[in-house]
Amino acid sequence: MQKFIFISLFVLAFMLSCKDKKNYSFENSLIPKPLELEFKNGELEVQENIYIVRNDVRIESSRVLNFAKNYFAGVYNVKIVPEIQKDGTNIVFEISGEGDNESYNLDIDKDGIKLSSPDYNGLFLGFQTLRQLFPPELEAKEKPETVKLPYVSIKDSPRFKYRGMHMDVCRHFFSVEDVKTYIDMLVMHKFNILHWHLTDDQGWRIEIKALPKLSSIASTRRGTVIKQNWGEYDEIPVSGIFTQEQIREIVEYAEDRFITIIPEIEMPGHALAALAAYPELGCTGGPYEVCRTWGVFDDVFCAGNEETFKFFEKVIDEVVELFPNSPYIHVGGDECPKVRWEECPKCQQRIIDENLADEHELQSYFVTRMEKYINSKGKRIIGWDEILEGGLAPHATVMSWRGTEGAVAAAKLGHDAILCPTNYCYFDYYQSEDKENEPLAICCYISTEKVYSWEPIPDSIPEYQRKHFLGVQANLWAEYIKDFSHLQYMAFPRMTALSEVAWCTERDPDYAQFKKRLQVMFKRYDKAGYNYAKHEQE
Ligand code: ACM
Ligand code: ZN
Repeated sequence: MQKFIFISLFVLAFMLSCKDKKNYSFENSLIPKPLELEFKNGELEVQENIYIVRNDVRIESSRVLNFAKNYFAGVYNVKIVPEIQKDGTNIVFEISGEGDNESYNLDIDKDGIKLSSPDYNGLFLGFQTLRQLFPPELEAKEKPETVKLPYVSIKDSPRFKYRGMHMDVCRHFFSVEDVKTYIDMLVMHKFNILHWHLTDDQGWRIEIKALPKLSSIASTRRGTVIKQNWGEYDEIPVSGIFTQEQIREIVEYAEDRFITIIPEIEMPGHALAALAAYPELGCTGGPYEVCRTWGVFDDVFCAGNEETFKFFEKVIDEVVELFPNSPYIHVGGDECPKVRWEECPKCQQRIIDENLADEHELQSYFVTRMEKYINSKGKRIIGWDEILEGGLAPHATVMSWRGTEGAVAAAKLGHDAILCPTNYCYFDYYQSEDKENEPLAICCYISTEKVYSWEPIPDSIPEYQRKHFLGVQANLWAEYIKDFSHLQYMAFPRMTALSEVAWCTERDPDYAQFKKRLQVMFKRYDKAGYNYAKHEQE
């Protein structure tokens, strides 16, 4: 009997240890899943010395190599070296092959690890895949037990060029460190765009040196609506602005990680914070207050006043300098009521002078005029799908949020489009039907499974228009998100699911397969210190 118990315990312990291993099984460790993935017989035992072998000393390579070095630093003895070494594990980074700049190959065999790509961007993305073959402990700089990597051959490239996550720092303010952590979250999932929503009714968050009242007045509101009890406010000021120095620091941090930050400067609506600082730019002249509640407000920038355009030109002059690598400036354009314009003599005069049919065409005049200015600075504009109303600006890219119809209409007109429809991509919505037990959210319900099920391009789109669908994005509006841990909770794991929608040409046919992989990702989040919703945890 004793012997039987002893053997049973031994078998149980063995099973548990296998189970532990299985949780990190390589087949389940990759999100987003690579295009071609072939595991082979054999394993490479990672040595105490890791050598990052550079094939190139150009400055661009240092971004990739330093990231890799920092990833292992403190856990392994890691060095960047010019050639393969005998006494350790070599990770060779090589610029070679053909394909787009984000494609890469990752090969692991008895000789070591080799990453190759036609571009540094692909090497960086390939390293993110390699990272996911290491145990989650690395995320916490903990020393794992002996690591054995599978022999594998991976060929990978993304489905979409634009893989975005949005961050609203207006409704609630987040720190420089928070924004950097958000960038880290994007990197781990092969997103490449951070859409940074910097101005809105409830706060202006980007320092503009020529317009100091944006910092001293527009960046602070004196309180916030309590829950959803319209008319009841707390008296806790919400204040914050990113200085230009901080913005440069964040942009550089993103650039080192191959993330492009697209700044959004809202016009002509969502204007109250700026109008509180510069009331002469509103149709009535104010007074205005930095808004304490959420919604769509009638007071917008006056489209008849030349001072409005001078204001935005000053803003754009500084914004283009701060975001040198973004090809786009997002100009908002959503939710701009026309009631003030209907009553305003200056706006009505503009309609007459410019021979416009109505206030919708006045909005189009506004956006097109700003587009021309932004184009003259070497950048293109993106606008929410309302910019289609009254006529689309000649070179604009449309961000389709009220369904996908905006994107379809844009593509028909030969314009590019980005898809972020509310019913799949609004991660400020509840992620469980059990709303009572969730933190307060704006409305509705989007599960991770629903995000995973999304096919972004409607079947009806003809082949020749498909190139205009640049990609996908999720939006994380922060009305009810007061701190960064809550923001992570709203993002994960829906963002994890979206990363596959954005990256994978073919997804798992069965959500359960994805869910299995998600379990490994949760361990990674635990070690990285990322909060996440637990509904999908098994
Ligand atoms: C939006 O959600 N107002 C673009
Ligand atoms: Zn006006």
